[in-house]
Amino acid sequence: MKTKIEDAVLIDIPKIVDPQGRGKLSFIERDVIPFSIKRVYYLYDVPSDSYRGGHAHKKLVQLMIPLSGSFEVLLDDGKKRKKVMLNKPDKGLLIPEGIWREMDNFSSGAICMVLASDNFDESDYFRDYDQFKQFKHF
Ligand code: TYD
Repeated sequence: MKTKIEDAVLIDIPKIVDPQGRGKLSFIERDVIPFSIKRVYYLYDVPSDSYRGGHAHKKLVQLMIPLSGSFEVLLDDGKKRKKVMLNKPDKGLLIPEGIWREMDNFSSGAICMVLASDNFDESDYFRDYDQFKQFKHF
């Protein structure tokens, strides 16, 4: 849980632009992200005034990709905060363990896909911000 805000970075996802103008294709292979994918989940039909996230993970590492539309992610390492706008399907946000995140400002039709390093485990969550801060070591 020594991760810092600087460890949450945007990752370039390879993109093939069709030479005949038939659209774009992106792909994620082992060397694109620094963990093995064990789970994929996605948020969709999110009302624009909704707020999601509001938690940190003890061990889980994730890559968040705006497959469609846009939304904002607030990141917080217990000391510093930064806000990232996700609006390109070829840019994914790597969120290491020990980083608090909140998502809002979802555009209409936004889809937030998340690649995760492990299965769902409620005991891996910090859902209380003060508790999360107590566990952070710098
Ligand atoms: P949660 O991670 O709290 O989503 P958010 O922070 O965006 O609101 O998950 C919402 C609910 O879905 C919660 O009851 C746990 C459940 N859930 C699963 O069962 N499996 C999963 O892979 C995920 C991500 C959530």
